[in-house]
Amino acid sequence: MLVLAIETSCDETAAAVVRDGRTILSSIVASQVQVHAEYGGVVPEIASRKHLESIVPVVEEALKSAGVGIDAIQGVAVTRGPGLVGALLVGIAAARGIAAGRGIPVAGVNHIESHLLAPFLEQEVAFPYLALAVSGGHTHLYRVDGIGSYAILGQTQDDAAGEAFDKVAKLVGLPYPGGAVIDGLASSGDPAAIRFPRPLLHDGSCNFSFSGLKTSVLTWLQKNPEAKSGQELNDLCASFQAAVCDVLVGKTALALERTGVRSLVVAGGVACNSGLRSAMERLAGQRGVTLHIPKPALCADNAAMVAVPGDYYLCRGLAGGRDLDALPSWPLDRITRELAAAGL
Ligand code: KG4
Ligand code: ZN
Repeated sequence: MLVLAIETSCDETAAAVVRDGRTILSSIVASQVQVHAEYGGVVPEIASRKHLESIVPVVEEALKSAGVGIDAIQGVAVTRGPGLVGALLVGIAAARGIAAGRGIPVAGVNHIESHLLAPFLEQEVAFPYLALAVSGGHTHLYRVDGIGSYAILGQTQDDAAGEAFDKVAKLVGLPYPGGAVIDGLASSGDPAAIRFPRPLLHDGSCNFSFSGLKTSVLTWLQKNPEAKSGQELNDLCASFQAAVCDVLVGKTALALERTGVRSLVVAGGVACNSGLRSAMERLAGQRGVTLHIPKPALCADNAAMVAVPGDYYLCRGLAGGRDLDALPSWPLDRITRELAAAGL
């Protein structure tokens, strides 16, 4: 099946053409980062307007770069949530319009589900696997038993890991979004320079908490106001990143132990982090677990990943119909309960 996938949950307008939920024919991402950087974070109203401007050209570009006409598309997959409601509505309206115009089905897809299944665009992954979803809005551990079958093992009690990166970047005057910038500076810093706390690391749960860590950085900065540049800033970034990675790796190790699962996926924007990627490689090596971290372009928001669950649901007639609403908050385990209730 040739699927056109659309993603507009936050500040990236993205469209992709994917064959059989596996082969990317095109993947176009129009980022609004520059526009929001001026405000130090995503402004929802501006995001919606930018999606409106970009959605048609981005879809056209995806078709053109795949070398296919709209008449070759057999189904549409679109992010239904979680995300910013106004932003989601733009993608959903475009998807519904295309599907209605062409008389083809449209499936609404969960954004986190797309992140967790992104590795399938590179290689098959055996079920069950443990998945750590780390993005600007999520820090969740799931056991993935199949497409549509997700059990939540732990989650952040406050800020998401990406949010912590972005907030700490703001504290030291770095541009939004701060994750990649901190990652870059951390590579020249000493991760042992400042001993920041590792929140909840030894509480015996698979949950996370990052807001206290952000406060620790703030308190440290108040005592060391000169540390906002040069080597001291690099050391601060490296020390903060090390604290985040230690917790992410520690909790993932605990979840691996508890589930006995032999395969691990790390996904979402924060999975681009070089420190986290190498720490997870070390963990997987020590535990003899197979690790899949998609390439950075497939970890950050994109539409190709939407086609993985989208194709699956479209092929099984589980498309949500043409009356898809946006679901700004849509816990992933609800999908599993709903599919089970429907006997699927
Ligand atoms: O998955 P994503 O693109 O969008 C959401 O669904 O949230 O994730 C965006 C988040 C931002 O918080 C950004 O700062 C973070 O991912 N991020 C990183 C890196 N690249 C992006 N965080 C740490 N290190 C990076 N290299
Ligand atoms: Zn995302």
